[in-house]
Parts: sequence; C-alpha cells; structure tokens
Amino acid sequence: MLRALTLYFCLMLGAATLSPMSAAAQAVDPPSGDESLASEQTVEDIMRRQQGLAEGDINQEQLIGDRAAPQYDTEILDGVNGDPGANLWRAFRFDEDQISTQVRGPATDILIQDRGMWWWQVREGPLIFWGGILLLGTIAALALFYLIKGRVRIDGTKTGRVMLRFTSIERFSHWLLAGSFIVLAITGLLTLMGRKFLIPTFGHEAFALVATGSKWIHNNISWAFMIALVLIFVQWVWSNLPDKTDVNWILKGGGLLTKGHPPAKKFNAGQKLIFWSVIVFGASISASGLALLFPFELQMFAPTFEKINAVGVPGWFGFDPLPTALSPQAEMQYSQLWHAIVGFILMAIIIAHIYIGSIGMEGAWDAMGKGWVEEQWAREHHSIWAEKKLKKGDVAPKKSGAGSATPAE
Ligand code: HEM
Repeated sequence: MLRALTLYFCLMLGAATLSPMSAAAQAVDPPSGDESLASEQTVEDIMRRQQGLAEGDINQEQLIGDRAAPQYDTEILDGVNGDPGANLWRAFRFDEDQISTQVRGPATDILIQDRGMWWWQVREGPLIFWGGILLLGTIAALALFYLIKGRVRIDGTKTGRVMLRFTSIERFSHWLLAGSFIVLAITGLLTLMGRKFLIPTFGHEAFALVATGSKWIHNNISWAFMIALVLIFVQWVWSNLPDKTDVNWILKGGGLLTKGHPPAKKFNAGQKLIFWSVIVFGASISASGLALLFPFELQMFAPTFEKINAVGVPGWFGFDPLPTALSPQAEMQYSQLWHAIVGFILMAIIIAHIYIGSIGMEGAWDAMGKGWVEEQWAREHHSIWAEKKLKKGDVAPKKSGAGSATPAE
C-alpha cells in the first residue's frame, strides 16, 4: 500500500510539473562534483542542517542519485533501493531527460542548480572572512598611521583669507554620493553578515526585521547613489584627467616621503586615484546591483567571460577557461559575488578617504563642509590651482567666528 501511494505521488508530481519538452538551460551548469559532502542523510542530519550545524554533511549524491546509475528504471521507481524519487531528481540535476515545467518565466525550468552549492559556500565562507579582514585591516592600518604620523597640519602661517573650493552643487552631489554609499555599505553588510553575527545575539525574529528593512533601504537608496555618481562624474571628470604634475606628485609620495608639498592642480594624483576608483568600481557595483535588482533580466557574465577567455587571461595564471554557458541562476550568483567583492574594495578605499578628509588632514573638512578653504591650505596642497585663483582675485577675508572658513558677508 505504501509503495503504491509513493508511486502515485511520484507520478502525480511528474504529471503536474513536467512535460516532455526540451530544457536546454538545465544543461549549462556543470555539477560541482563536490565529494567532500559525504555522510548519511538522516532526519537528524536534516534537523542539524536547519539549525545551521554540520552544513557540509550533506551527501547530494545519496539524496538525488549519482550520474552513473540507471535512469527511470521501473525497479528502482518501485522502491527497490528504498529511494523511489532518486532518478527523477537526478534527471533534474544533471539534465538527463527532457524536462520542462508548466511555469513560464526566466529560469523556471531549472529546479536543481548543482553549482549553487559552490556559490553558497563561497558567500558564507571566504567572502565574509576576507571582506571582513580587508575592512578591519584598513581601519587598523589607518589607526597605526595616525599614531605614527599624526594629523597632517598646515605648515605655514594661516592668512585669514579663504578661497571657494567647491560650489553648493558640487557639495550636494558629494554628500548625496557619500550619504547613499554609507547607507548602502551598512545595509549591505547587514544583509551579508547578519545571519552569522546578529542571529546568535539578537535571535531570528529581530534579525528578520533588520534583514527586511536593510533590503528595502538598500534597493531604494541605490538609485540615489547611481544619480550622484553621474553628477560627480560630469562635474569633476575634466579636473581628474591625468597629466604630468601627477607623475611628480607620485614620485614624491604626495609629500609624505619627502619634505614639502609637490605642486598640484584642483585634484592631486591621490585624489584622482580616489575619483577613478569611485567611478569605475561605483559603475561596476551599479551594473551588478541592477542585475540583482531585476532578477534574470541582465546576463553580463557569460559574454564577459567569453571576452576574457578570447584574450587568454585564465591561461596566463594556469587556470581553465572561465565557464561561458551559464544558467540564469549562475549569472545571478556571479553578480552577487562580484557586487560584494567590488563593494568591499570600494568600502576600504572610502574608509581611507574619509580618514584623510576628516581627522587625517587639517583644513580638508572645510572644503566639503563649508565649500571654502584657508588660502594657506590651498597654497600647500593645491598650489597650481591656488595660484590661478589668486591671479583672478578669487579670495576673500575669512568670517570671524570659531574656526569658520566661510568668507565675510
Ligand atoms: C563622511 C564621509 C566623507 C567625508 C568626510 C568626505 C570628505 C571629503 C573631502 C573633504 C573632500 C575634498 C578634498 C579636497 O578638498 O581636496 C572629498 C572629495 C571627494 N569625495 Fe569624499 N568624503 C566622504 C565620503 C565620500 C564617499 C562615500 C565617496 C564616494 C563613494 C566620496 C567621494 C569623493 C570623491 C570622488 C572626491 C574627490 C576626490 C578627492 O578629493 O579625493 N566621499 N571628500
């Protein structure tokens, strides 16, 4: 009776969800073949997995059969090996039958994407670990730098006059970019790391609220970041084109390695590096973010991998060519990993930028806070730009009052 019911259930499941049509996409992800996932699959294993324990102890081969076993053998379907559904699920997994679902939409004909396990393990393990190390390492390095070198002071005597460094539109664009990036960074980290670090302390219910809120904020604030990125690019790109003053600035280590300040225009070589990092990494984060925001709509990795393979890049490092036949799910997984990796790199760069724009350098904050900078600061850090302004008479007496760089009315 039990055997008959089981068979009936399998047939109903098959009839309801499958039709004998082609499912080309099913074939595209090669199985990871991760033999490390080996143990008995018992009720205890499932319970332990739900509790987040022993996640590696799952034997996929046992769960859904191995590739070499005979397919749709009625003996096996009859329950001879005690696992009547194994062949069906193996066919899902390895695309070894003509499978299609009645559900229409992108990626709906892939019920098991074997390589998803690889992505999940990278996301939960090395991504969180090395991303965390990068951020904490950057903070530690800056703290050490501050302890050794202290604050970069204005060397000469302050003049009491100020120069307009950034207009209100420039400052608005900068703070829109900065504000949105900081919110995106915090909500992104909560989404990635919350399961590991918040659930043990605050519990599942509290984290569910945080996770839902983070996702909503992250998805919506991303538009402000993308708009600000365009605004910043349009306004500052001309002042950030590389020129020969940058070579000298770099050779002198921006004044850190030698005495005195190397000449610089509106932006020095260090700032240009920050600008282009923000533009290139910001655009890349935006592209992968859009791929995540509109699931399965943008397929960017397969064509990119094709181009990289054509150049032969993987071979230079002794690697196999990158996979070019990617399922829609794999595209999403690569988007997620890329989004997070580039996000971590940009966060580390921005932490250093925030340091130098605030406590790291006397007089820098005024540039973005008020728009006006002390003439002496400008002469030291952006001498070519300051000279030009002085020639035009673009300088005003500083308004009296506690440390304000704003000019008198
Ligand atoms: C609290 C956070 C931040 C502070 C205190 C800050 C401060 C500053 C200051 C003072 C400047 C002008 C430097 C000068 O006059 O030469 C500046 C420029 C700039 N900021 Fe920020 N910033 C912050 C966050 C951000 C973020 C999150 C981004 C991008 C995601 C960003 C991107 C830029 C860029 C591209 C420039 C021009 C290049 C440069 O000066 O390095 N900033 N920032």
